[in-house]
Amino acid sequence: MNHFEYKDGELFCEEVSVTQIAKEVGTPFYLYSKATLSRHFHVFDSGFEGIDHITCFAVKSCSNIAVLSLFGDLGGGADIVSGGELFRALKAGIDPRRIIYSGVGKTEKELRYGIQSGILLFNVESEQELHRLNKVAGDMGVKAPVAFRVNPDVDAKTHAYISTGLAKNKFGIPINEALDLYLQAAEMEGVEVKGVSCHIGSQLTLISPFVETLRKLKAFVERLTDNGISIDYLDLGGGVGITYDDEEPPHPKEYAKAIKEELAGLPVTLILEPGRVIVGNAGIMVTEVQYTKTNRGGEQEKHFVVVDAGMNDLTRPSLYGAFHAIQPVKKKNVATQVVDIVGPICETGDFLAKDRKLPKVEQGDLLAVMSAGAYGFTMASTYNSRPRGAEVMVSGDQFAVIRARETVESLIQGESIPGFLES
Ligand SMILES: Cc1ncc(COP(=O)(O)O)c(C=O)c1O
Repeated sequence: MNHFEYKDGELFCEEVSVTQIAKEVGTPFYLYSKATLSRHFHVFDSGFEGIDHITCFAVKSCSNIAVLSLFGDLGGGADIVSGGELFRALKAGIDPRRIIYSGVGKTEKELRYGIQSGILLFNVESEQELHRLNKVAGDMGVKAPVAFRVNPDVDAKTHAYISTGLAKNKFGIPINEALDLYLQAAEMEGVEVKGVSCHIGSQLTLISPFVETLRKLKAFVERLTDNGISIDYLDLGGGVGITYDDEEPPHPKEYAKAIKEELAGLPVTLILEPGRVIVGNAGIMVTEVQYTKTNRGGEQEKHFVVVDAGMNDLTRPSLYGAFHAIQPVKKKNVATQVVDIVGPICETGDFLAKDRKLPKVEQGDLLAVMSAGAYGFTMASTYNSRPRGAEVMVSGDQFAVIRARETVESLIQGESIPGFLES
């Protein structure tokens, strides 16, 4: 359930007209509903009531500090994958004891920053990373808390680019080889073994891969115990999918129930790293039609709607062939047309939708690209020197710009023409 609804043919976010926001803020912009963000966080988190758990929101999915601060206030932690995300999470007021650090490529500087900040857990993804962390922490005279991200070789049955739990993927340590690293770590001065972690992929629409993963993790924890290693945390990652089109992902409560049943009796704190399932349908992107045109001469006429948001603003359609529902902000009683909705970028791959049935639109009409709350703004770039759009949050009848639109000046910030080019 979300709070983007039509009232008298006009799209509203909670009690604010989307058209009104566009008038004041300009387009394109990303729009989040606070009520939906809070509701989705609560529904997910409360599914795990009754067991020790921490819901560490995956910052990469939507990293605005206002969004992070909201989840922090609701009791959430953060799953981060870079020093930049750590900086954001701390700025947003998230308790470092609820921050976990994943990712295959942590630099020395990032490890040091994580240790200095007192984060809960480093999810280590390779033997070399373990040695680096041991050295960095040892030099600082402390012990870094460690979990190993194991790769359970489970097929998440999702898009190949967002499937991460197969042996052929770059992530984690093969579960069959991980024991050796735990034994090494147990002897190290600079690390303290605390947990086991995994993340098998994103936009999963089935529960079974999660359950299969958890079974493998439980068997692995038993092997650790047999070898004298006990753990406090079991991190199951993120990955629960959402409905973009006609997918039927499990309800978060169903997912939580299955996980709780499978986990029963294991004396650990469960960590979850949800991103998309919380923010995906809590945000949209709003764009304005610039031109409509029809190209003839091929096998058939092709209709294009050129909008002011492109693959730099929402990359998922170009990158994964992902579907986003697109609908007019103001409903009109007009015929429909099959169109490609494309951006202004100089790439044929720059599209938001292909062969999509849309009520006929005109220059100046606003379109809402739905389900853009996750991996929308965070994956945006400034390709073609296009300043990134504003981010806006609505709460009831109020709205606030939570990130100003970038300017062309900001695009060249830090650039300079060196003396040797001056004639
Ligand atoms: C390590 C890790 N945790 C959590 C997530 C969040 O996944 P999702 O947004 O599908 O819940 C990701 C996404 O790729 C990830 O890489």
